[in-house]
Amino acid sequence: MSAEEIELAAQWIATSKKLVVFTGAGISTESGLPDFRGPNGIWTRRDKGLPPPKTKKPWHLVDPNPAHYALVELQELGILDFLISQNVDNLHLKSGIKPEKLAELHGNTTLMVCLQCNRKMTYEEAGWDKRIWGPGYRTSPVHPRQPKCPYCGGRIISSIVNFGDPLPEKDLEAAFYHSKTCDVFLVIGSSLVVTPAAYCPQLALKAGAKVIILNEGETPFDNLVHLRIYGKAGQIMPKIVAQVKELLKLQKY
Ligand code: APR
Repeated sequence: MSAEEIELAAQWIATSKKLVVFTGAGISTESGLPDFRGPNGIWTRRDKGLPPPKTKKPWHLVDPNPAHYALVELQELGILDFLISQNVDNLHLKSGIKPEKLAELHGNTTLMVCLQCNRKMTYEEAGWDKRIWGPGYRTSPVHPRQPKCPYCGGRIISSIVNFGDPLPEKDLEAAFYHSKTCDVFLVIGSSLVVTPAAYCPQLALKAGAKVIILNEGETPFDNLVHLRIYGKAGQIMPKIVAQVKELLKLQKY
């Protein structure tokens, strides 16, 4: 990462008409959660016959890191238009991102969804005790006495999208719409190899947006984007946002 890259990214973000951010597991590794395809990722280790890396804390006690909070600052500055995430760790909502500004394409480990009315709800709201009823995946057996949607009586399942499951339609539609209509698209911490999520940067490029990738590892888009920053999101994002604030002061918006 260089000062020029920070300056350029900050300029594009500060002067953007519509900024969309796209995150993957790499934004949460500095919170202590593993990614999938990084050097010590869950799939990287699995392919070497190793168990997933140990997390210091249970998932629900893990906290957002400076990269998550940098996005909340962009939201407070009125610059973040929409956030698309592949992460299920709930850290964007936990950090203060407004639900209406967020599409969680692969679900959220703290939420269930009703297959009938499409409402999202916490396990507590649903009265779903995992110790009794299990994780409640789409493919889990349905028990006649398991809790139903408190709003419409429909079947409720974990919102987690497992391989082979369909993605949440409304979230995916919103993600594609915002990717096609933004003028700056910022990718943070994703290897961009899983579709349909990875169609988002493609749509942004096709729509003529300036696309920035901030990622430690390589991605298939590295030679296609306008700015490629290598480094740690938790260190770089606060620097970019600090520079954005400087520029906004100068422009006296
Ligand atoms: N700062 C910047 N980049 C980082 C950091 C960090 N602190 N930590 C890891 N990275 C990078 C890694 O180098 C890697 O390229 O983040 C990227 C994470 O890529 P993946 O592990 O493939 O995660 P992601 O892109 O979110 O995977 C997409 O795959 O298995 C499925 O459903 C799962 O949602 C996941 C999807």
